[in-house]
Amino acid sequence: MKEVLKCYTEDPFDYKPVEEIITRFQGQKGTMIPILQAIQDAYGYLPRQALEYMAAKLKIPFSRIFGVATFYAQFHLKPRGANIIRVCQGTACHVRGAAKIMKKLQEELNLEVGGTTEDMKFTLESVACIGACGLAPVIMINDDTFGRLTPDSISDILKQF
Ligand code: FES
Repeated sequence: MKEVLKCYTEDPFDYKPVEEIITRFQGQKGTMIPILQAIQDAYGYLPRQALEYMAAKLKIPFSRIFGVATFYAQFHLKPRGANIIRVCQGTACHVRGAAKIMKKLQEELNLEVGGTTEDMKFTLESVACIGACGLAPVIMINDDTFGRLTPDSISDILKQF
C-alpha cells in the first residue's frame, strides 16, 4: 500500500493535461472511458490526482471512476516504464517454455510480473496469445516481437533498449 501511495504523491502535480482533457469533453455524455484513455495517454497512466480532479469537475463519485479504471485491463493506476515487456503465456508459448523466459526476465530485471524497474526503464507484464504462435515462445517489447526465445537470448535483447 505504501508503494502505491508513493506513486500518487508526485509533487507538484501537473494538472494542465487533465484540465485540458476535461474541458475538451465537457458537456458530452458517455465519455468516461474516452476521458480515462486521454488521461492515460497524457500521463502514461492514471494518476490519482487526475482522477480526483475528473471526479470533482464532472461531479461523478471518485469510487465510480476508480471502479471503471480498475475494471478494464487497458488502464494502469501506477506509472509504467519507458519500455513495456509483454511475455506471452498462451498455450503454444507455455508449451515451448514461456515460464523459463519469464523467470529469466524477472531475474535480469529483478522484478515481479506487473512491476517496473526503479529507473522506470522497463515494465514486465504477462499477456495471453499475441498471435505469433509459430514463433513461440514470444515476447513483445513495445511494438517489437521477439520469437523462438531461449533464456540465454534475453540479456542481448534487453541491451537493445
Ligand atoms: S501462444 Fe504465444 S503467441 Fe500465441
